[in-house]
Amino acid sequence: MSSDKAVLAYSGGLDTSVCIKYLQKLYKLDVITVTVDCGQNEDFKQIEKKAKVSGAVKHFYIDAKKEFATEYVILSIKANGMYQNKYPLATALVRPLIATKVIEVANREGASVISHGCTGKGNDQIRFDITIRALNPKLKIIAPIRDMNLTRDAEIKFAKKQNIPISTQAMKYSIDLNIWGRAIEGGSIENAYFEPPEEAFQFVKFNNEEAGYIELEFEKGIPVSADNKRMNIVELIQYVNNKVGAFGVGIIDHIEDRVIGIKSREVYEAPAAVAIIEAHKDLEKMVLTKHELQFKQIVDEQWSWLVYSGLWYEPLRTDLDRFIAETQNRVSGRVKLKIQKGSLRVVGRESKYSLYKNDLATYNIGSTFDQRLAKGFSELWGLQSIIANSTIKEVNASVEKGRKNRQ
Ligand code: ARG
Repeated sequence: MSSDKAVLAYSGGLDTSVCIKYLQKLYKLDVITVTVDCGQNEDFKQIEKKAKVSGAVKHFYIDAKKEFATEYVILSIKANGMYQNKYPLATALVRPLIATKVIEVANREGASVISHGCTGKGNDQIRFDITIRALNPKLKIIAPIRDMNLTRDAEIKFAKKQNIPISTQAMKYSIDLNIWGRAIEGGSIENAYFEPPEEAFQFVKFNNEEAGYIELEFEKGIPVSADNKRMNIVELIQYVNNKVGAFGVGIIDHIEDRVIGIKSREVYEAPAAVAIIEAHKDLEKMVLTKHELQFKQIVDEQWSWLVYSGLWYEPLRTDLDRFIAETQNRVSGRVKLKIQKGSLRVVGRESKYSLYKNDLATYNIGSTFDQRLAKGFSELWGLQSIIANSTIKEVNASVEKGRKNRQ
């Protein structure tokens, strides 16, 4: 009798390599591995080899870079997707896509088990589990690292015993990489006071003293060209990552609240995400009204929270996307950014839909703004606050009097 099949989301890293063996040995399953390419820039032939050597009976490579960029990253750009105002959601965005691809393979191959290498400490388990349950509730989920409460040290020991090759990087950090960013966890940087060493970074460089510029053009909220060269979205993100990273820009280092309650020190490098979102936000400020901006900020924050916390398939997320899409119709134009020694600043912006009108704003001749109108406006605008202020003074005085009487 042939054994049941498990389809495993396989990155080739330590966690997932260890998973193959556990699924085989402990659960007696035939393991099919799936590696989804979302811009990890790795040697996928090598990953396939490693999967087979570790015991996979079949391996699939799926190139999902374009789908990731168009169906996930673009929505996040429009939503200025940032968790806790810092983290551009690279890992959070890619998990539902990877899960979707693995489920498709499981359905095709007639597998009853789906497996991932997430620990029980992070957010990724939630993102995988919820996507799987939302799309095919019949699949059984096995997450060996979580289920067996394994530490990274125990995994390394097990991998050595089983002759699973471990990279030198994996000995130091746990890395998650896609076109939208790179997360670096574990090792020395678990000490929250310890500055991440330069060798931890791949895109961000530290030797460039010069200043540079990058120009980004947006159409309906989507970046379409960089430095006047039109590119598809995947090329554009890669171009911005390399260019902006070369000027030292794109490192994020913060204390993050995970969904399950743990606070963690997170280090990322995401030059393209940082630059593109900064530019996009700036352009929105030029073309949207203050009312739209105020409300959209709340929507953006809620959107980012849903995505971070694994609720990609929550209907509210798509409801919010519809609102966001509507606001993007006017977000077209050009933004110029200055990049130098790790800093990034918008230094210019223009749009045919600009609400910034020079004849209104100018302090020079040519102004069409009648200043006299402002006198009445300021009187009415502060009306309630001015009245409340004198009331508060009276109230405070009587409270103070009561206190003295009691003494
Ligand atoms: N803290 C980030 C998140 O929750 C990054 C997680 C990185 N994952 C990893 N397996 N190294 O999205």
